[in-house]
Amino acid sequence: MTAEAFYIDGVRVPIGRARDDGYYAQTRADDLAVRSVRALLDRNPGVPRERIDDVVWAATAQVGDQGLTLGRSIAMLAGLGKSVPGYAIDRMCAGALTAIVNGANAIKVGAQDLVLAGGVEHMGHHPMAEEVDPNPRFLSDRIVDPSALVMGNTAENLHDEHPDISRERCDHFALLSQERTAAAQADGVFGQHVVPMTVRSPEGWRVVDTDEHPRPGTTLDSLAGLTSPFREGGFVTAGNAAGLNDGAGGVLLASAAAVEEHGLTPRMKLVDYTFVGVEPETMGYGPVPATDRLLERTGMSIDDLDVIDMNEAFAVQCVAFLDHFGLPLDSDKVNPYGGAIAMGHPLAFSGARLAMQVAAYFDRNPDAQRGLTTMCIGLGMGAAVLWERA
Ligand SMILES: CC(C)(COP(=O)(O)OP(=O)(O)OC[C@H]1O[C@@H](n2cnc3c(N)ncnc32)[C@H](O)[C@@H]1OP(=O)(O)O)[C@@H](O)C(=O)NCCC(=O)NCCS
Repeated sequence: MTAEAFYIDGVRVPIGRARDDGYYAQTRADDLAVRSVRALLDRNPGVPRERIDDVVWAATAQVGDQGLTLGRSIAMLAGLGKSVPGYAIDRMCAGALTAIVNGANAIKVGAQDLVLAGGVEHMGHHPMAEEVDPNPRFLSDRIVDPSALVMGNTAENLHDEHPDISRERCDHFALLSQERTAAAQADGVFGQHVVPMTVRSPEGWRVVDTDEHPRPGTTLDSLAGLTSPFREGGFVTAGNAAGLNDGAGGVLLASAAAVEEHGLTPRMKLVDYTFVGVEPETMGYGPVPATDRLLERTGMSIDDLDVIDMNEAFAVQCVAFLDHFGLPLDSDKVNPYGGAIAMGHPLAFSGARLAMQVAAYFDRNPDAQRGLTTMCIGLGMGAAVLWERA
């Protein structure tokens, strides 16, 4: 029998816009991760830093200020002590979710007791796909269509495959993301896991404490006026896609023994997960087969889930998910606190945010028992992780 892996706490920095005038234009990516790790341990003083068994940290771009084996370098920079090991991990958008699963697995086999797992992506310092050199055989051997390598194009392809998913429905979903994010912000939901970050700006040092990307004034009309940068006459716009962002954060996972020894309060446990491969040209569909397989494995139906936190890479892939499971566009159990369309999507970090939001939902809804985090992933993959109240 395997042991249980508990989610204790999660912390992230505010998400910034990846622009020259964005929050973190003059801040190193690894410093964002270090800030979250320090804050996470500061607010869990019962956990001795040197007792952390591993730091598992994801980034899609693993060069420059995201290079040097992130988990280990973050452990050292955060002052955990040189005896604490760490490693870096990459599964593109599901990097942090994979880090969390790996951390939980190490706990479940009994090899480790306390693991920090998270992700970082500074898309300002590492623009998407700029630092990679895809093997030319991908195209010359027709392993993928050229559109598979540009995420916005894969979203346009999904529209082609699902003509019933109109631009209007996608804009409506995007508006809901903005409205729910604004409501959650006003209600203090994010205050539970967002910590302020001191940053350098042209005006000097300042403190940022709220996400920079949301546009609370968004209307259906303003969304309708945007055009697709990906395809002439296309449906995918800056308004109904996730943004280009900088952010970092991670979670503290613990075994039952560590919970007992350090007097921790477990909030949820990681029950099961799936990763699947799908057509790279329509990578956004990944959450559908990933969730189907997870439900099948666990003998559950979509109705057994109280909350679903789905990464909003593009509205079209979220609407495809809702349609597949027969859920309405405004289902109140899907992304109740909004999502990446409003908040932004610093690639490898976002999975940690999803887990934090499921935990926040459990905290605020005592009857909720089961939650799902699910994401689509570049090159055609899907991830789904099942959480249960501890
Ligand atoms: C779509 C995309 C190309 C747009 O990039 P961008 O032009 O830098 O986007 P911005 O957020 O700056 O928005 C551009 C303009 O659209 C308009 N706009 C954006 N969101 C809007 C909204 N909700 N309502 C009204 N107007 C909006 C604004 O005019 C904005 O300009 P401004 O910031 O000067 O006001 C980019 O966000 C993208 O590539 N997203 C997908 C990211 C991705 O693939 N991630 C991986 C997923 S697998």
